[in-house]
Amino acid sequence: TERSLVLVKPDGFSRGLTGEVLRRIEAKGYTLVALDVLTPTREMLAEHYAEHEGKPFYEPLVDFMSSGHVAAVVIEGNRCIEGFRALAGATDPTAALPGTIRGDLGRDWGRKVQENIVHGSDSPESAAREIAIWFPKL
Ligand code: GTP
Ligand code: MG
Repeated sequence: TERSLVLVKPDGFSRGLTGEVLRRIEAKGYTLVALDVLTPTREMLAEHYAEHEGKPFYEPLVDFMSSGHVAAVVIEGNRCIEGFRALAGATDPTAALPGTIRGDLGRDWGRKVQENIVHGSDSPESAAREIAIWFPKL
């Protein structure tokens, strides 16, 4: 089996979409292993987004992600990393296909960051690294 880190980002959390995201994860058949609601520190986000440091969207991304509450979730199930990314849809919510979380619930709000409701780990290595940042006791 496999685990993935899912985040309901501040846009999704403030819009009250956490339940809808969890509903889709559970309906797909994945298990919830851990859940927390927190406002991430810039230090946590610097670790989480280390691969993007130096990119033009990095500072706006950290500003946005530290702007409010986030729901952090660890999910479990065979191939759940790939499976959740399929549920989430493409990074750009305008282009994300209907049927996906971003395609059904997201749009371009004209802000600097692509506000796209959710994050999902992109590989087993990323998942292990990210779960250690968000759930050090797990
Ligand atoms: P996550 O699941 O959030 O990691 O999304 P992703 O894997 O589809 O995207 P990626 O890891 O490449 O980028 C992380 C986040 O940075 C995205 O979710 C967006 O919020 C933001 N982002 C990525 N690429 C761009 C970009 O080209 N422009 C802008 N403005 N934001 C971007
Ligand atoms: Mg990513």
